[in-house]
Amino acid sequence: MNKHKTSGLTIALSKGRIFEETMPLLKAAGIEAVDDPETSRKLILDTNRDDVKLVIIRATDVPTYVQYGAADLGVTGKDILMEHGGEGLYELLDLNIARCKLMTAGFADKALPEGNLKVATKFVNCTQNYFAKQGRQVEIIKLYGSMELAPIVGLADIIVDVVQTGSTLKANGLVPLEHIATISSRMIVNKASMKMKHEQLKLLLDQVSSAVDLRR
Ligand code: ATP
Ligand code: PRP
Repeated sequence: MNKHKTSGLTIALSKGRIFEETMPLLKAAGIEAVDDPETSRKLILDTNRDDVKLVIIRATDVPTYVQYGAADLGVTGKDILMEHGGEGLYELLDLNIARCKLMTAGFADKALPEGNLKVATKFVNCTQNYFAKQGRQVEIIKLYGSMELAPIVGLADIIVDVVQTGSTLKANGLVPLEHIATISSRMIVNKASMKMKHEQLKLLLDQVSSAVDLRR
């Protein structure tokens, strides 16, 4: 794949909920996947359109691919976008999918220490910014998943993670505490692609945007 090619679009998506919830919206732009990422081992998926390819990557890598132009556009959660920082890309459309909240969570009845609160999370930058704004001193413990375990085993006092139904927290004896941000997935576009493939991207964004409005 040549990142300098001036025609054709590469779209970065992650497997699971992002792929499943984005594809019906891309259908409005006439784009349908030929393979299913759940069953195929391919990392580059063809679509029904010769000029559009999908790259299937980890959710946290989507902004990086778009930032460096390895993908022209991508779909990523606002949580991941905030954590990345957004350099080299434009956040152009709220797709209103994969909705959840970024929250702190912990035990309902446990008093938290006054100083040096231990916080386990994969959202290190978001957590740092949130507590810095409040002037609260925290020690952040970086994890890559299963954050709910950290307070149970005494690794941390609280966690920062996304919450949707709250059932994962409940199943692990935890409760949501403080709301940090409301999250949904965004369509992001590489800054250079936006200039070089403006017509193509504008048409796609308009079509997807109409599909998003129809579903509201
Ligand atoms: P990975 O599986 O690679 O560690 P991930 O767990 O962040 O990455 P997904 O679970 O597919 O990947 O989540 C993608 C996005 O969907 C998240 O960035 C978040 O915005 C949103 N999301 C995560 N969990 C939920 C949930 N339970 N309900 C709704 N949206 C969610
Ligand atoms: C996310 C997140 C929480 C859970 C929250 O994990 O890390 O563990 O979802 O959702 P809930 O409030 O509805 O329980 P993951 O991506 O593994 O979620 P999934 O199990 O729903 O796919």
